[in-house]
Amino acid sequence: MLVLPKGVRHIPGHLDRAAQERLVEDIRAVVSQAPLYRPEMPRSGKPLSVRMSNCGDLGWVADKAGYRYQDRHPVTGNPWPPIPETLMTLWAELSGDTRPPQACLVNFYDDKARMGLHQDRDETDFSAPVLSVSLGDACLFRIGGTERGGPTRSFRLESGDIVVLGGESRLAFHGVDRIYPMTSTLLKDGGRINLTLRRVTG
Ligand code: SIN
Ligand code: FE2
Repeated sequence: MLVLPKGVRHIPGHLDRAAQERLVEDIRAVVSQAPLYRPEMPRSGKPLSVRMSNCGDLGWVADKAGYRYQDRHPVTGNPWPPIPETLMTLWAELSGDTRPPQACLVNFYDDKARMGLHQDRDETDFSAPVLSVSLGDACLFRIGGTERGGPTRSFRLESGDIVVLGGESRLAFHGVDRIYPMTSTLLKDGGRINLTLRRVTG
């Protein structure tokens, strides 16, 4: 058994195949209104390997100016589409917070994409957890404590898995070391989608 840091919950296979397929349809509708784009690292302007979009009142963006939440898509200038009902229900069921999420970051990983260790700390209120949903190919997820450079543990996230980072692990460092190509048939062209629901303000 893998012992996870306090406040981290991993719920393997929470969504069955039918629920995963419905969610993929919802996310297709989101990205048809708010297309995936390639964010850039602050200062260097180096593109991230993950493509991103958002739904909700606010969306997380990264560009040369920094990391922030904003209410518009950085490329189209349009408001983000609403968070699909299925995700609102999942949040109500698993977050332990009665306030709704305000942002849902949509990450798309191709076979080569990864995400370095980071904290989710651009929100102004950390009392609500971050709830993450994995769809498509599996990945190797890494999680540590709240200090950079501390010990970390890695485990695989499969399609339909949920991770909740809350309490003492709300600010835990986490990242994605690699994608395991062709490990799921959910997305017809492969790759991995990760959705993270966030409460941004108090
Ligand atoms: C993230 O930290 O934004 C994404 C984590 C993941 O892809 O599982
Ligand atoms: Fe994150």
